[in-house]
Order: sequence, then structure tokens, then C-alpha cells
Amino acid sequence: MKRHLFYLTLILLVPLTLYLLSLQTVLPIPADDEHAGITEVAGCLECHADDKGYPKKKTHPPKDQCFNCHKPAEKQSAAKG
Ligand code: HEC
Ligand code: HEC
Repeated sequence: MKRHLFYLTLILLVPLTLYLLSLQTVLPIPADDEHAGITEVAGCLECHADDKGYPKKKTHPPKDQCFNCHKPAEKQSAAKG
């Protein structure tokens, strides 16, 4: 029984830790005109691809599923009031 509790705690702690880490580092998508209403990754890359006007840094994580990490800022500012 103790063993089960140990694993259960472990299983619950891992996603929680990942969630807290993701909150700290990832920038929200700015809530300005340039970012309003884009729902496809291809839209992001029109400005943020390496050869475009606002490329991501060299240290940027490699994955191209922008929305997995970057969420729109609008909801956060709405929560503030
Ligand atoms: C029309 C051009 C354009 C498009 C399309 C665009 N961006 Fe941007 N993005 C910018 C510019 C310019 C900046 C820097 C100025 C600013 O903060 O608005 C920026 C900044 C950012 C930042 C960093 C904000 C900061 O605090 O440094 C993130 C994250 C970002 N964009 C994500 C995205 C994502 C995800 C998409 C697709 C949904 C996207 N952008 C589409 C032009 C664009
Ligand atoms: C695996 C998670 C992840 C994915 C997927 C992701 N990003 Fe980011 N992005 C980050 C993190 C973390 C930062 C902050 C990096 C830093 O502070 O150095 C960041 C920062 C940025 C910035 C600010 C400038 C910079 O390079 O630090 C822009 C612009 C940006 N991302 C755009 C995008 C776009 C566009 C996509 C999709 C093509 C994308 N991101 C996908 C995690 C991600």
C-alpha cells in the first residue's frame, strides 16, 4: 500500500512541476494588432521565421507548434480587470 502511495504522489508531482516551470519561462503572445486573430502556425512564421522581420532567438526551443507553449495574453489581462 505504501508503495502505491509513493507512485501516486510521483505521478501527480511530475505534471505539476512541468506546469509550474512552463508558467515561469514562456512569454505570452502579445495582445497587439500584429498578433490578433492568428490561429495557424503558418501565420506566426510570416514574421517569426528565421529569414523574416522578427526571427526567434538562437536559443529558442526548436519545436514549431507555437501554441503548445505560447498562449494569447488577452485572457491574462482580462483576468486583471
Ligand atoms: C505581423 C507580424 C507578426 C506576426 C504574424 C506574429 N508576430 Fe509575434 N511579434 C511580432 C513583433 C513585431 C514582435 C515584437 C514586438 C511586440 O512585442 O509586439 C513580436 C513578438 C512576439 C513574442 C515575444 C513578445 C515579447 O514579450 O518579447 C512572441 C512570444 C510572439 N511574438 C509570438 C507569436 C506567435 C505565437 C505568433 C502566431 C500566433 C506571432 N507571434 C505572429 C510580429 C509578429
Ligand atoms: C517548446 C515550447 C515553445 C514552442 C513550441 C515555441 N516557443 Fe517561442 N518561446 C519559448 C520560450 C521558453 C521563450 C522564451 C525564451 C527566452 O526567454 O530566451 C520563447 C520566446 C519566443 C519569442 C521571443 C523572442 C525569443 O526568441 O526569445 C518569440 C518571438 C517566439 N518565442 C515565437 C515563437 C513562434 C513563432 C513559435 C512557433 C513557430 C514558437 N515561439 C514556439 C517556448 C516555445
